[in-house]
Amino acid sequence: MKVLFICLGNICRSPIAEAVFNYTLNQRGIEDWEVDSAAIGEWHIGNSPDFRARGTMKKHNIPMNHKARQVKKADFTHYDYIFGMDHDNIDDLKDLCPSNGTAKIEMFGSYDPKKELIIRDPYYDDGDAGFQKCYEQCIRCSEGFIDAVAK
Ligand code: 4NP
Repeated sequence: MKVLFICLGNICRSPIAEAVFNYTLNQRGIEDWEVDSAAIGEWHIGNSPDFRARGTMKKHNIPMNHKARQVKKADFTHYDYIFGMDHDNIDDLKDLCPSNGTAKIEMFGSYDPKKELIIRDPYYDDGDAGFQKCYEQCIRCSEGFIDAVAK
């Protein structure tokens, strides 16, 4: 299984989703899945995640090692699932998807057992509460998706 997480900048939500998803796979002893994250925009290419994202992962002892990259055409044939965090991400992904794209493009939040669909952008927040909330949503959605496909 190959899974790609997308958000606008690839420095807040999608690297958290990637890290939490890898952590959840590891906890369940699932190996050999390919997991990555990428941006819609090009602003932060090559950058590490936001310090609040890194701090939140550190607090929960979840390894995070990512440099931002932008989504590319080949991703739409390489990955089985491409997950967006909000409706804007999904609209952008559908616009960017080439005609031969095979990846399923879905909201990551659609796998939340608590049905919180949108993982909102915490980048412009003052503190790190939005990052903690993003982490909690990603834990639930990772469990929900793995339960849905790995049975
Ligand atoms: P993310 O947050 O999409 O969760 O990584 C953002 C990070 C940067 C920007 C927007 C959203 N930005 O406009 O620079």
